[in-house]
Amino acid sequence: MKGRIHNFNAGPAALPLPVLEEIQAEFLDFKGSGMSITEVSHRSKWFDDVIENAVARVRRLLDLDERFHVVFLQGGASMQFCMIPMNLLPESQPADYVNTGTWATKAIKEVRIQGKKVNVVASSEDQGFSYIPKHISFNPNAAYVHITSNNTIKGTQWESFPDTADVPLVSDMSSDIMSRPFDPSPFGLIYAGAQKNLGPAGATLVIIRQDMLERVPQDLPTMLKYTTFVEKNSMFNTPPCFAVYTIQLVLKWLEETFGGLEKMETLNRQKADLLYQAIDKTGFYTGAAEKESRSLMNVTFRLPREELEKQFVEQALENGMAGLKGHRSVGGCRASIYNSTSLEAVRALVDFMEEFARKHG
Ligand SMILES: Cc1ncc(COP(=O)(O)O)c(C=O)c1O
Repeated sequence: MKGRIHNFNAGPAALPLPVLEEIQAEFLDFKGSGMSITEVSHRSKWFDDVIENAVARVRRLLDLDERFHVVFLQGGASMQFCMIPMNLLPESQPADYVNTGTWATKAIKEVRIQGKKVNVVASSEDQGFSYIPKHISFNPNAAYVHITSNNTIKGTQWESFPDTADVPLVSDMSSDIMSRPFDPSPFGLIYAGAQKNLGPAGATLVIIRQDMLERVPQDLPTMLKYTTFVEKNSMFNTPPCFAVYTIQLVLKWLEETFGGLEKMETLNRQKADLLYQAIDKTGFYTGAAEKESRSLMNVTFRLPREELEKQFVEQALENGMAGLKGHRSVGGCRASIYNSTSLEAVRALVDFMEEFARKHG
């Protein structure tokens, strides 16, 4: 569509064009209400249908059984860093955390702030967080094991999830939720800020298993308790209505138009393979993550000199490709290729990379 460019932003990130068009088409008069979705009451039938539909689609897409509750919260994924230990970690027990980068480090910090016990059972900090640790021994007495399934900044991803025996897994899936199917049963809690694979910023998806809710201390402030939101179906107070509405449309697109998570994983692998092949076949680009830990969502790479990286990002933008600058904390380049980034966008980037390497290599 005229004026739209290929968007490789890390988050907020690309959304499916049909979803944006649907929002535009029904914006002024939502389902015959004579109001936009940002103007109807969250206690109305219109919004009730939206949130019910969003929850039902999350449940179907992720194959969640009745033990799991689905809620939409505010405060971003960062709010979960503190809510998880507040709600799930008793003073007497430790939690195991695997440190795979900036976001995991922030999550660990929030446990320590609360004076609770945290075991960092594995870390890839020794190699600049360029890999996912293997052969980890977890503590059988831990309250939970926390991992970050995809590390947005460094571009690493857990290919499969660790076996933690009876200890529930808790995962920050902000940057790879809905990108592939997985077995939800070992997870006590899954959380994801919406602004990558789900929709706009402003809502955080939290999936919590019933047995985790039983741990929630009574004396927590109301707005920081998972039980508050589960009991009121995310509507204890005004939810982020527009974000939830958009998430519902993105999930509808994923389920009905695109065809579900298995197909999505196939496409995501195809896109990532194209890019990693383009990186590996020249001596010009270097992948920033170790090969076996490479992310299918955030492809990170370096050029021979910082000056060239700057030119690469600028010239890519001139050629209709946005968002290729690496995170400010690590530099380099990063192409975020979430669910909504098309194969066509990735092909355009690969062509540009080849041409840039020919000119400057
Ligand atoms: C893996 C991961 N966790 C957490 C966050 C923080 O999310 P928020 O800005 O929603 O707090 C991000 C943001 O990019 C992220 O990529």
